[in-house]
Amino acid sequence: MSILKLTSVPVAVAVASVVLIGCERPPPETVQLGYRGLAMEHVQNPRDLARSYAANQPPEAIPAAAPGGPMVTDVYQNVQVLNDLTMADFTRLMVAVTLWVSPEEGCNYCHVPGDFASDDIYTKVVSRRMFQMTRDTNAGWKDHVADTGVTCYTCHRGNPVPEYVWVTDPGPKLPSAVAPTGQNIAASSVAYSSLPFDPFTPFLDQANEIRVIGDSALPSGNLASTKQAEWTYGLMMHLSDALGVNCTYCHNSRSFFAWDQSTPQRTTAWYAIRHVREMNQDYIWPLNDVLPESRKGPLGDPYRIACFTCHQGAYKPLYGAQMLKDYPALAGPAQAAAPEAAPVEPAAEASEDAAPATAL
Ligand code: HEC
Ligand code: HEC
Ligand code: HEC
Ligand code: HEC
Repeated sequence: MSILKLTSVPVAVAVASVVLIGCERPPPETVQLGYRGLAMEHVQNPRDLARSYAANQPPEAIPAAAPGGPMVTDVYQNVQVLNDLTMADFTRLMVAVTLWVSPEEGCNYCHVPGDFASDDIYTKVVSRRMFQMTRDTNAGWKDHVADTGVTCYTCHRGNPVPEYVWVTDPGPKLPSAVAPTGQNIAASSVAYSSLPFDPFTPFLDQANEIRVIGDSALPSGNLASTKQAEWTYGLMMHLSDALGVNCTYCHNSRSFFAWDQSTPQRTTAWYAIRHVREMNQDYIWPLNDVLPESRKGPLGDPYRIACFTCHQGAYKPLYGAQMLKDYPALAGPAQAAAPEAAPVEPAAEASEDAAPATAL
């Protein structure tokens, strides 16, 4: 739809209109994030933001169950994870997960009809692990998800399989001269940049080193190759795209390296990367044996989690909606192991700005 009238305007204006027609409407807004003069700015298109906001709203909470009453363990035979709940809370949670995961299919998406205790249906086995993953996330990864936490809805949004998942992608069979390590392919995984298109496998499943910048001059100071840097940049494009932010949401572009010049969000993202690796390694991969072929990629690996699985273009999933507080059954108990230590700046990195030592 064109809103420009080109018929009776002077030539100069017509030319300008044609030149400007590629610009966004309404014009993007810029929000300053860092100190003045640092150009740490967030650029957003108000129309896209409004659309994203509307698409990322939580469903209304279902009414709380009456307190007290018998425990599930008094009544049911095969409750292995949610065994600390009352019957009333348990039933309410079953209704909620049906709305979040299988609203069209109903209870029988995860249950053998007529036999709720049976485990002879893979979706129930997967869900039990998902209950553990959700509880462990909320209890053990507060450095990432804070008290906002997650529910099944954060990823599933009413779909049995979340919309934003990934598998290891062997990619199109192009000659390596055209697409070395999967480069030069317009892939949505790296926001259509000309970067290796699968940064998920090495960094969000395996734990390969992401940092590539050296702390002293070549050759001894930095053993990372340009190719490694391109993989890192591919991952960074995903982070930005998944959260709907620019690089400067986390970095001061003066130094992508230094933690003391980065925003607090970069530290949160550091935890997030470890959190996602743990979910993929400890919760999703062990399910591969029970998943049917239709739930696997071409290489036989399971659908896995990346930043977009929860964030879906928002800096906080569902724009920070506090869904978990309405479902305390998903908040614990704490079973998670303590995550890795915080990213303390190693001594060598701290000296980044210091004058190089004089060689003796
Ligand atoms: C998304 C999957 C899923 C859906 C949908 C679901 N459930 Fe469940 N249900 C489970 C899992 C997983 C367990 C076992 C939990 C555990 O081991 O802690 C369970 C256990 C149960 C049990 C306990 C049975 C026993 O004797 O051990 C009952 C009863 C139950 N569900 C009822 C329902 C009802 C009623 C609905 C529909 C309103 C429903 N469920 C929908 C996954 C689901
Ligand atoms: C961090 C994102 C995330 C959260 C939170 C999450 N899931 Fe999942 N879920 C996934 C992914 C990824 C898959 C696909 C991989 C698999 O099947 O193991 C999946 C698959 C499933 C499936 C299998 C569906 C099918 O058709 O194969 C069920 C059932 C399920 N989840 C239930 C739940 C329940 C119940 C909860 C909340 C207790 C939950 N999930 C929370 C990411 C999530
Ligand atoms: C959501 C936060 C976030 C965003 C957005 C982000 N980064 Fe990063 N970046 C990080 C984190 C965290 C690390 C360190 C990862 C690690 O060590 O596990 C990092 C590391 C890097 C590194 C390696 C630094 C070194 O010391 O070797 C580069 C280069 C980089 N980012 C560039 C970018 C670029 C370019 C963009 C925009 C396309 C971007 N980042 C967007 C969080 C972010
Ligand atoms: C399991 C769902 C989930 C996944 C997957 C996920 N996040 Fe988050 N993330 C959250 C939640 C929930 C919050 C909100 C925490 C809060 O309210 O402070 C959050 C907050 C953040 C924030 C803080 C934003 C701010 O403005 O304070 C950053 C940065 C972040 N996540 C980065 C990432 C990155 C990078 C990835 C992928 C490596 C990722 N997240 C994957 C759930 C998730």
